[in-house]
Amino acid sequence: MLQFDILATEGRARRGRLTLNHGVVQTPIFMPVGTYGTVKGVTPRSLEEMGAQIILGNTFHLWMRPGLDVLQQFGGLHRFENWNRPILTDSGGFQVWSLGEMRKISEEGVKFASPVNGDRLFLTPEISMQIQTILDSDIVMQFDECTPYETRGHLTTESEARFSMELSRRWAVRCKTEFARLENRNALFGIVQGGMFEHLRQESLDALVEIDFPGYAIGGVSVGEPKEEMRRIMAHTPHRLPAHKPRYLMGVGTPEDLVEGVTQGVDLFDCVMPTRNARNGHLFTRFGDLKIRNARHRSDERPLDESCGCYTCRGSTAPDGTVSGGFSRAYLHHLERCGEMLAPMLATIHNLHYYLNLMAEVRLALEQGRFAEFAARFREDRARGV
Ligand code: GUN
Ligand code: ZN
Repeated sequence: MLQFDILATEGRARRGRLTLNHGVVQTPIFMPVGTYGTVKGVTPRSLEEMGAQIILGNTFHLWMRPGLDVLQQFGGLHRFENWNRPILTDSGGFQVWSLGEMRKISEEGVKFASPVNGDRLFLTPEISMQIQTILDSDIVMQFDECTPYETRGHLTTESEARFSMELSRRWAVRCKTEFARLENRNALFGIVQGGMFEHLRQESLDALVEIDFPGYAIGGVSVGEPKEEMRRIMAHTPHRLPAHKPRYLMGVGTPEDLVEGVTQGVDLFDCVMPTRNARNGHLFTRFGDLKIRNARHRSDERPLDESCGCYTCRGSTAPDGTVSGGFSRAYLHHLERCGEMLAPMLATIHNLHYYLNLMAEVRLALEQGRFAEFAARFREDRARGV
């Protein structure tokens, strides 16, 4: 089941409410990535406190470990990972693609060697639907081929991009048929491909709309292309998708990319950036990014971001009202230098809170009809520097 209601619009940007089997998601929203059934370093309770409404999982990784028998035993991913809100799972297309030379693509599907134990495996649109049905993901992604920016050392040509896009289109039909045969009650999204070619993107989009999905994703971006190319595709595709259905831009991006995506009519985003960068000591703040390992933070008593309400920056409030206060940059710098596990944990809380709060501010601005103003202020603040 999926219901999508648009509550407000400003230009191409939309403020929506997405109702799924495990709950309601207010859009635009950022979805934290939980590849192996965990958003690395944070508990589900902490995710709820940060305002996470929906998280990702990966078909490919969960198929490898723990395997389908265990996931089936638990009745799906929600109970297994103890997260009772909506989950979106990627189909495995992109993850298999990331294996590079280790895979062999045919009409039927993708043959590859397991990166875990070397077993020969075969992933097809049908198998991806079967796995995602066992996972009981609220949003199931079609199995696709992510067209790379470069193919064997040259820019992907139009005919290569066309071949790849048409294969994904045929796989979309097979996914829809298998999803129906499995009597899956969740929602299946189609994925627009077409590389950097706008007419191929349009063809892909038209074909997917004809097949008819309850929601659509834009794939094949952030695949090694220059920023201007990514922004060109972001400006081309989202607003051409059906207005009354949710739109998901896959694997994007920086805070600036998210605000630009919303401007172009995107409703859902995911990216490893806030979580992965946190583990490398790269923090996002209102006034730009900060590298906590830098010696300038060695004795700095200020929090990462004065305007941030996260546990790392603000601490917590006890039932009697006493506030513990937040962690200083000096302390976070110290933890990072010592390789303490609390360093990536506190950094992940801050970065995810930053992304989730940014989207909450975007939603409020859209409700109040001042999104353009908000976006201008946001860009100005971020460019100022910490
Ligand atoms: N994640 C980021 N880009 C893509 C894509 O093109 N396809 C899929 N399945 N996942 C992605
Ligand atoms: Zn913070």
